[in-house]
Amino acid sequence: MHILAIETSCDETAAAVICHSRGQLNIVSNLVSSQIDIHKQYGGVVPEVAAREHVKNIIPVIEQALCQAKVKPDKIDLLATVSGPGLITSLMVGVEAAKALSYAWQIPLLPVNHMYAHMAGNFLTALEFPALCLIVSGGHTELIYLKDYFSFEKLGATIDDAAGEAFDKVAKLLDLGYPGGPIVSKLALDGDPKAFAFPRPMLNRQNSDFSFSGLKTAVLYAVQKHTGRSRQFQADICASFQQAVIDTLVGKTVKAAKEYDVKTVMLAGGVAANQALRSTLEQRVTDLNLEFKVPEFKLCTDNAAMVGIAAYFLSQKQKIKLDNWKKISVDPNWEL
Ligand code: KG4
Ligand code: ZN
Repeated sequence: MHILAIETSCDETAAAVICHSRGQLNIVSNLVSSQIDIHKQYGGVVPEVAAREHVKNIIPVIEQALCQAKVKPDKIDLLATVSGPGLITSLMVGVEAAKALSYAWQIPLLPVNHMYAHMAGNFLTALEFPALCLIVSGGHTELIYLKDYFSFEKLGATIDDAAGEAFDKVAKLLDLGYPGGPIVSKLALDGDPKAFAFPRPMLNRQNSDFSFSGLKTAVLYAVQKHTGRSRQFQADICASFQQAVIDTLVGKTVKAAKEYDVKTVMLAGGVAANQALRSTLEQRVTDLNLEFKVPEFKLCTDNAAMVGIAAYFLSQKQKIKLDNWKKISVDPNWEL
């Protein structure tokens, strides 16, 4: 079975081909055309610009994904596209392109939730359930309890900024560039995580919710109090901020893992590319004798392979009709 998957929820135009054969799921091609260089000059994603770039890139990216996979459209059994959550005009490009292909090629189309796709980055090898997944991206921070691949419950989420958004805002207030996560984590390597005593927001609350706007404000005050911007000062801010985020995310995830007695803990989303977060959570989870899973780096930030994997699992649960495309529209606020 071959799946052609599309992802355009934010500023990456992505297409991938996934193949399932003899009980094995494989990524055959995984193309991502990033718009970072364009949005960098504005300090963040400009939705109108993102949509225009998607329009330019969507067909070439799909064509390249098929070409690299050496698969012709008549060998594709299922099309999949992210239809939410995300930027409405960005989502519309991927969804409308997928609907047009579904109609023209007569291949059924499945809409996929972007957050479910992030979790599915961990589904390439078998999972032991129940499981817990911490999804940390630019727009979301969520703790999900999974009974199996299809039944899940949101235990908590951020009440204000997402973890990735906090990384991006800290980078912005230090004038480091966009996106902030990779830059802040690189600088943090040379800093002292104990240099600034930043708060660990909501760590001791009973629930599984998060909050990062207070931490961001604490960083802002520390930066405003300090005159000069030496590289060491910036590195210490980054290291202390990153440590506060990691302590909070890991602390709350481990607490929920114990409370819900899960067998597996997973990490997903763009911030899962953070090496310090990956290794800290892995250590704490394996200390509890639980299974730890995190996607390889290129499956953490937005990509279409994770959408294809998600679509494979979803297609095992439901029959998708040839004219399903008629019912599909974007839902920028689609909750898991
Ligand atoms: O999942 P993703 O690619 O897009 C959304 O769905 O939002 O996540 C992007 C977020 C950005 O906020 C980016 O700064 C963050 O992931 N990110 C990181 C790292 N790499 C990307 N955050 C911390 N450390 C990283 N190494
Ligand atoms: Zn994402």
